[in-house]
Amino acid sequence: MQNFDYMTPTRLIFGKGVIEKLPEVMSQFGKKILLAYGGGSIKKIGLYDKVKSLLQGYDIYELSGIQPNPKYDPSVISGVKICKENDIDVILAVGGGSVLDCSKAIAAGAKYEGETWDLISYKAFAKESLPIVDIITLAATGSEYDAGGVISRTETNDKIGYVDPHNYPRVSFLDPTYTFTVSAKQTAAGCADAMNHVMEQYFAEDTTLLNDGFCESMLKSLMVNAVAALKNPEDYRARAEMMLCCTYGCNGILSLGNSGSGWPCHAIEHALSAYYDITHGEGLAIITPRWMKHILSERTVDRFVKYGVNVFGIDKTLDKFEIANRAIDATYEFFRSINIPMHLREVGIDESRIGEMAHHIAVNEGLENAYVPLTETDLIEILTRSL
Ligand code: NZQ
Ligand code: ZN
Repeated sequence: MQNFDYMTPTRLIFGKGVIEKLPEVMSQFGKKILLAYGGGSIKKIGLYDKVKSLLQGYDIYELSGIQPNPKYDPSVISGVKICKENDIDVILAVGGGSVLDCSKAIAAGAKYEGETWDLISYKAFAKESLPIVDIITLAATGSEYDAGGVISRTETNDKIGYVDPHNYPRVSFLDPTYTFTVSAKQTAAGCADAMNHVMEQYFAEDTTLLNDGFCESMLKSLMVNAVAALKNPEDYRARAEMMLCCTYGCNGILSLGNSGSGWPCHAIEHALSAYYDITHGEGLAIITPRWMKHILSERTVDRFVKYGVNVFGIDKTLDKFEIANRAIDATYEFFRSINIPMHLREVGIDESRIGEMAHHIAVNEGLENAYVPLTETDLIEILTRSL
């Protein structure tokens, strides 16, 4: 078991109607709020009006239009400008992972004199940042409970996932009823994203019985509850359990004491959405089974056996490679059963830029240290199999 040094300083406020605590929470941070949100879903579900009515008496500045795969230019740059010009005290991010990630970059950029991109690209490290409170409206990324942020820069085809302890939200509001309106496409993509967060921690060299059990149970819960939520989008129990699974997915709690994996599927997917602006969870669902097939070997087969037997209930008396291959096929079939497009061509990606993307990943993502190291040639093979 590996050493670790762990803290998640975020307060989680979970459940139906918890938004009523918003005024009490915001009062700790000051009067000037930057309210950050996306393309309008929070208005459609009445959350925007609710927030405004709960926060009467505060000075609220707004940054709207934050896109999925949030862009450095214009969203991060505009947000930093608003914060600096108006001496903002706190950011209230209302929306999905994209809104929250964008807010994390803005929070640090607001307290930094240079270009915010320096912080995202690890050229410099934040010394302080504005506090962030969020109301998450989509179960997927776990950004509400982690120190990560993912920002895209279109002109250089960069989509950088960076980790900085300043990124932890101070308080996250998790009301599953706000996710009732999430589309079937985004619900399925959110499930695939969270499942992959678990797999990125499960498929590692050195793991514990404790973590393996936690991961296996999360994968089962995500599959059962995503199916239930797709069948009945207002199934509170399903949305609630899915939301909590997603929250746990990305803050490292599932792999305390494990060796690292290098998060290879995320590294590959980030290039896909940087080059083609696709939905993150869909890209992951497409890549995951192809990556699994690619790394299956005598060295890794026992992990796949454990996964197949404990997550999909495959007969443990079968040959180990038979179990492993059935487990990989079951993974693919599950994603397909919730209507995720399972080929890159279905999301508008052809072979023309595979070499370029593989090179970009090999140079920028450090996959030579992954659970199974991946070279540029391996990446080309995985991407080509995913077409
Ligand atoms: O923009 P609006 O109008 O709000 O619509 C959004 C958006 O179109 C919509 N939506 C959100 N809540 C809704 C809703 N529609 C109806 N009802 C609601 N309640 O859903 C669409 C997608 O939103 P987005 O925020 O982009 O989705 P998600 O939460 O999946 O975030 C994806 C981003 O997070 C990054 C991804 O790479 C991607 O950029 N990730 C962040 C991570 C982190 N910070 O730890 C980890 C992840 O691995 C991931 O990389
Ligand atoms: Zn993810």
